[in-house]
Amino acid sequence: MSQPTSKPDSPPSPVLTEIQTARLNLRLFTQADLGELAGLTSDPDVMKFIGSGQPISTAETQSVLSSIIHAFEKRGFGRWALVDTGSGKMIGYCGLTILDEAVGVELVLLLARSHWGKGFGFEAAHATLRFGFEELQLHEISALTMPGNTRARHLVDELKMGFLRDGHMYGVDCVYYSIKSQDFHADESPYTLRRFSRRADSSDDDSPPVKTSLQATV
Ligand SMILES: CC(C)(COP(=O)(O)OP(=O)(O)OC[C@H]1O[C@@H](n2cnc3c(N)ncnc32)[C@H](O)[C@@H]1OP(=O)(O)O)[C@@H](O)C(=O)NCCC(=O)NCCS
Repeated sequence: MSQPTSKPDSPPSPVLTEIQTARLNLRLFTQADLGELAGLTSDPDVMKFIGSGQPISTAETQSVLSSIIHAFEKRGFGRWALVDTGSGKMIGYCGLTILDEAVGVELVLLLARSHWGKGFGFEAAHATLRFGFEELQLHEISALTMPGNTRARHLVDELKMGFLRDGHMYGVDCVYYSIKSQDFHADESPYTLRRFSRRADSSDDDSPPVKTSLQATV
């Protein structure tokens, strides 16, 4: 007798997508990324405007990584690992997440200090917005930054995300931005999608993702 391939009441597994841009591979995270991700989350410069504003430990980063993997497989979108195709190194993450229902789908982005000021942030974020509007058919995507995060604020301006208001979220002052689908225009830069179904090595664990300080804000 053949075995059922999924639980009778479980929703269909989402299609998972990766993106290739001019210089980046936006690929799914795996548990093997822990060392490189922990290298980024231990850098005080990188973490200055994330969560509590402090670096986090490898154990906390492990929790974040598991949460990222779980959320992506459950929703069919989330944070991709950013791989610099020139060096093959994982240089950060970028993607879409839902941290607060009132805010909706948020753009989140983090780059290694060595890769700031080279346009990688814009390249990853633009591809992510394009995916959100073209593939997920979202009507609006938000971004939250801390007021002093001038690099992030400059980047959301470059993305043509509009200032909405100052506010207070996740226990800190923040600035709200958003862009609606009709205001987003994809540029001519390389953008190739690779789609596949839920990976064979994924767990069947439906426990909710663990909330950590890294998830407290982008
Ligand atoms: C926020 C963050 C991603 C911004 O990174 P960034 O490097 O400033 O942003 P970009 O990659 O888009 O780089 C923009 C700069 O690169 C330049 N640039 C653009 N394309 C380029 C290219 N192909 N080659 C070289 N430089 C380029 C742009 O001119 C721009 O410079 P400018 O600011 O002087 O005009 C980065 O500071 C970061 O990871 N910070 C820590 C985590 C964080 O705070 N995340 C956001 C939370 S809200």
